[in-house]
Amino acid sequence: MDSILVKGNGALNGVIPIAGAKNACLTLMPATLLSEEPLTLTNAPRLSDIATMTQLLRSLGAEVASLQEGKVLALASHGSINHVADYEIVRKMRASNLVLGPLLAREGHAVVSLPGGCAIGARPMDLHIHGLEALGAEIELKDGYLHARAKGGKLRGAELTLRMASVGATENILMAATLAKGTTVIHNAAREPEIVDLAQCLRKMGAQIEGEGTSRIEIQGVDRLGGATHQVVTDRIELGTYMLAPAICGGEVELLGGRMNLVAAFAEKLDEAGVSVVETANGLKVSRKNGRLKAVNVTTEPFPGFPTDLQAQMMALLCTAEGTSVLEEKIFENRFMHAPELLRMGAQIEVHGGHATVTGVEKLRGAPVMATDLRASVSLILAGLAAEGETVVSRVYHLDRGYERVEEKFRGIGAHIERIKA
Ligand code: EPZ
Repeated sequence: MDSILVKGNGALNGVIPIAGAKNACLTLMPATLLSEEPLTLTNAPRLSDIATMTQLLRSLGAEVASLQEGKVLALASHGSINHVADYEIVRKMRASNLVLGPLLAREGHAVVSLPGGCAIGARPMDLHIHGLEALGAEIELKDGYLHARAKGGKLRGAELTLRMASVGATENILMAATLAKGTTVIHNAAREPEIVDLAQCLRKMGAQIEGEGTSRIEIQGVDRLGGATHQVVTDRIELGTYMLAPAICGGEVELLGGRMNLVAAFAEKLDEAGVSVVETANGLKVSRKNGRLKAVNVTTEPFPGFPTDLQAQMMALLCTAEGTSVLEEKIFENRFMHAPELLRMGAQIEVHGGHATVTGVEKLRGAPVMATDLRASVSLILAGLAAEGETVVSRVYHLDRGYERVEEKFRGIGAHIERIKA
């Protein structure tokens, strides 16, 4: 398994282009199952998770062509398709469960493997199931697979309220409702920008949707959807991650394609800590104000709150801030596994359930550390960029799932970083 070597190299300066969003692309790609017409996605990120979704859709009989070095995905699924999403693919990536709604809406039945456990939490699918059952599906779990069937062969619109504003459940129900008979209203829907991006693409395909980005989404089902060409929204988590590079190491970096409304809650916390974030004609410019960073308290929330996918990276920043910060993780029950690795680099962190107390130290020291999940892996790289000496991060396959050309992007702003091939 590859690992990545990082050496603290002082302030970082320059420009980084931000890619299209992994978590938008992973829900846009299954939307091709809702239509017999071609769907073209531009600004697609080049990531191993996108390759896994491509493999899954091809296993269902869809065509997926990767063009322009992977930045454009041409998708189509005409004629009869296979309605079984196999465990061998689904176990590699939870987001595979986003084919359940589209398959059910198109074929009236679907058999989708349950993804199984995940490092950051139990992550059940009860909200997806209850939502689709409200639309008239009968769903039972057999041999690790969800067997779903639309009563009478077609889903029908319904009014439903989500217990939690789940991103995935909102996406599955939204996609299924586009072809259901009648009107669906989702209350307490998730409001993430990736859901807004999905709704905008579905609307281009002919869907009738109102309210995306708010907690009440209304969908008027239609008989069929057409094709579309859609540009994938900027990846706000990749954006937030690279905003932390000059924040942690000093310097000034412009993030091309960044937009403040994608990261407002996060930028607010950076400002509180002593980091300047300004909008430019091409994106966002981030620089560290004079002096040491200040401790801040952070609580993760569904959008527009502070994103859980930036919590680990923010912890790396707070390790060298002046004072004590408290991080509260409210979305996932086991998302502090980066803390013991940061302790190995000389950080002072105490974890109690969903709270982590970080007491800032003057300087971190390089050490061999291990990545445990996607966002934890990049938080260790950020910590290594600010540390004295060398840090070697192992198990970086996690990183390749969500960050394209990560060494190149960091090297482009002056970081000392290299991949050590297995
Ligand atoms: C999406 O996961 C993202 N993944 C995650 O990003 C992100 O952390 C998460 O949303 C929250 O923002 C993709 O979009 C592919 P949820 P998702 O359903 O849809 C509980 C990354 O690093 N829940 O909003 O799985 C669940 O256990 C990844 O890119 C139920 O209880 O998240 C969790 O505690 C990691 N029952 C909470 O809701 C359900 O049926 C939020 O989960 C569904 C969810």
